[in-house]
Amino acid sequence: METINKPKTTIVIFGVTGDLAKRKLFPSIYNLFKKGLLSENFAVVGVARRPWTNEILRSNVCEAVKNEVDPDAGELEGFCSHFHYLPFDVSREESFDELNSLIGDLEEKHSIPGNRIFYMAMAPQFFGTIASSLKSRGLTETEGWSRLVIEKPFGHNLPSAKELNEQIREAFNEDQIYRIDHYLGKEMVQNIEVIRFANAMFEPLWNNRYISNIQITSSESLGVEDRGGYYDTSGALRDMVQNHMLQMVSLLAMDPPIRLTTEEIRSEKIKVLRAMRKVSSDEVEDYFVRGQYGPGEIKGKEVPGYRSENNINPDSQTETFVAGKLMIDNHRWAGVPFYIRTGKRMAVKSTKIVIQFKELPMNIYETKNSDTHPNLLVIHIQPDEGITLLLNSKKNDSSGGTAPVHLHFSNNSVNTVNTPEAYERLLHDCMLGDATNFTHWDEVDLSWAFIDTISEYWENSKEELPNYSSGTMGPEESDELLKKDGFHWWPLNEDGE
Ligand code: BG6
Repeated sequence: METINKPKTTIVIFGVTGDLAKRKLFPSIYNLFKKGLLSENFAVVGVARRPWTNEILRSNVCEAVKNEVDPDAGELEGFCSHFHYLPFDVSREESFDELNSLIGDLEEKHSIPGNRIFYMAMAPQFFGTIASSLKSRGLTETEGWSRLVIEKPFGHNLPSAKELNEQIREAFNEDQIYRIDHYLGKEMVQNIEVIRFANAMFEPLWNNRYISNIQITSSESLGVEDRGGYYDTSGALRDMVQNHMLQMVSLLAMDPPIRLTTEEIRSEKIKVLRAMRKVSSDEVEDYFVRGQYGPGEIKGKEVPGYRSENNINPDSQTETFVAGKLMIDNHRWAGVPFYIRTGKRMAVKSTKIVIQFKELPMNIYETKNSDTHPNLLVIHIQPDEGITLLLNSKKNDSSGGTAPVHLHFSNNSVNTVNTPEAYERLLHDCMLGDATNFTHWDEVDLSWAFIDTISEYWENSKEELPNYSSGTMGPEESDELLKKDGFHWWPLNEDGE
């Protein structure tokens, strides 16, 4: 009998020769296998254009797994034998028939009751064609279930996202579509709901009466690496804000769902996106700042500017940094700015959320020898995972003053060894049919609608770029954005960056 957390499944990976499969999917499938979360009755079919064979794919899988995790040598060979390769041309209908017949054989061999995951890990321009051929050639008509996993970018703007969605909806229902946002698979992003809704001490304060502002930073020290071709047509706004940053905003701002079901959680998140104040073209500069990195130094090493990277237009106006102020116009959040910032080639690699509480109405310690600090709740998403609560305490002397103390909980010291990778969780959720941590179409729709005005404005305006040096925390205007509201970015590490 099939146990509930181990559905017998075939995973079809489109674009199996690519980087995502190598870095994320193979190691994640292996970890699920090793932890006993993958049924022994499984098969993985990799398809791509290259003339690979089963042997080539399997040796790539073994190598990728060895690079990312510490596999059990004895187990690895058996694991890799579940992988099969099919050279594939998405424009040939016959390729889909060959795929169908290969899956059919494997389902028979491994007693898999027609459960199929179609994972799109390739160039987005093919997503729509593949989805419609999967249906027209009968691959989605099975005895079990079939699900479509779609990687970002889900469109380039609202019209293209709509077009893509219409195409895939002809072949799959909304509840069969799993739009990946890998931030939703991160341990501490998933923990936001628990911190908020399982602690009596936070939820009553989680509103505009007690919170003065919220800051979300996702900074990277890497540049565009080998993704120049994609990135130069995307930029930080589309690459990070439209998806990951807005997802974190909605988890922080949503009302408590009436129960922890996919529908209830998603519906609360959607309400946040609906309440987000639209920024019109003539307001973009009041709410958003863009930046592009120039040359600089990261960890003592000189690095080139964005315009000198591979596959980047030497006059590129693409932003590699965005800072923004979001307002959520509802009862809970009216008047509380949510500041976001993200960028490449910044001083540190760090994702953190800082919730800054309002000051007390009267500070009776003001006249003493005090260093009174606003209360902060810091959620460390990565690289460290944990929570810090910043409180004021008596100074350890006879001055009668106060000093800030940090109450710190680090997830890493508790369970790092087993903390699953985002992709591992998301793949497992997909096998179980749990779409909670995937993006619903309404979220995609609302977030593109919000983003499009800003990107259109930037496309038509010219700015002096680059405007920040590699190895810094972005352009000065990002600091100005908060300064004009009387705030500042809280540092992300002890070096004050
Ligand atoms: C991806 C972006 O979605 O997220 C990349 O396309 C970015 O440009 C990456 O580097 C960041 O993810 P993480 O998990 O390293 O914060």
